Amino acid sequence: MENFNQIESDILNKIKNVSDHNALDSVKTEIFGKKGVITELFNKIRSLDQSQRKEYASKLNELKTKVTEILEKKLVDFDQSEINKKLKNEKIDITLPGRTYFAGKIHPVSQVIDEVTSIFSEIGFSVEEGPDVENEYYNFSALNTPKNHPSRDMQDTFYLDHSKDLLLRTHTSPVQIRTMLKSKPPFKIIAPGRTYRCDSDQTHSPMFHQLEGLHIDKNINMGHLKGCLYYFVKKFFEVEKVKIRFRPSYFPFTEPSAEVDIGYKIQDGKIKIGEGDKWLEILGCGMVHPSVLKNVKVNPKQYQGYAFGVGIDRLAMLKYGINDLRAFFESDIRWLEFYGFDPLDVPTNYRGLSR
Ligand code: DAH
Repeated sequence: MENFNQIESDILNKIKNVSDHNALDSVKTEIFGKKGVITELFNKIRSLDQSQRKEYASKLNELKTKVTEILEKKLVDFDQSEINKKLKNEKIDITLPGRTYFAGKIHPVSQVIDEVTSIFSEIGFSVEEGPDVENEYYNFSALNTPKNHPSRDMQDTFYLDHSKDLLLRTHTSPVQIRTMLKSKPPFKIIAPGRTYRCDSDQTHSPMFHQLEGLHIDKNINMGHLKGCLYYFVKKFFEVEKVKIRFRPSYFPFTEPSAEVDIGYKIQDGKIKIGEGDKWLEILGCGMVHPSVLKNVKVNPKQYQGYAFGVGIDRLAMLKYGINDLRAFFESDIRWLEFYGFDPLDVPTNYRGLSR
């Protein structure tokens, strides 16, 4: 009969000397693989005498159990020491100062465009866009402002190419024309966007933003215009009551035309919207001129409506107490840090104070 003691000590020696996972795997194959030591010993049972079988098998089973246990223990030891090694190498030093995290800010103009768009969307206006580079027809002529009309003087224009009649749009009103030409009434749209005039001082910048509104349908009257603008001003300035004044005015593309002023007062150095006895102009509006409707092939006998144009930057200045328009477009990151809006609700202590 085999010397099981000898076999056992050979095997245990082998296992003892193993120093990593891979080596342990190959030793395992040497023992329990197809041609492994213990496998062969099991194969031998068949050729043994009945008298020897029982003792042989029981010794062999003992050996198998012992070796299996030792192998398993070794495996656990390896895993443990690998984990310990990892823990040691990947130790995090929690005493290091945290990294500052810089979150960008939303520009007040973008913020106001979002606010205004959502207010008008709630009452059924959809959003339209038009190009910044316009031609004279859309910017002036189709809006009832023919060449040499004195009202073109009101808007000091950047002409790009006279031969092609190209210019930077002086207002968002050409989007009215583009919208009406491309489909059929009714129309209920707003059009926010950049506009340009040759102008620069504390309250004028050569590039600024407007929001155009247009509502054309059967039986639309000035009452609808008033209702819509009251609703808008109250929602935008977040006030319950608001003083609004419609002042007669002139625009070639509306008849009658009006400018809208809102009442305000200065209290403790801050502007309070909606009360007080001072007036501030915020927009131009009116009932769309029949000639404009004819220009876009809409029958003014069947359809009427109102339009308005609001200065977005001015709304932002008023709502958020910013008093110099030029600073809006100087791209000073410190200004944006101060006046900008958080895109997400980032806790303030995470905000990048140093950069
Ligand atoms: N486009 C005008 C401007 O920039 C503002 C305006 C006035 C727009 C009356 C309108 C309107 O749609 O009906 O001064």
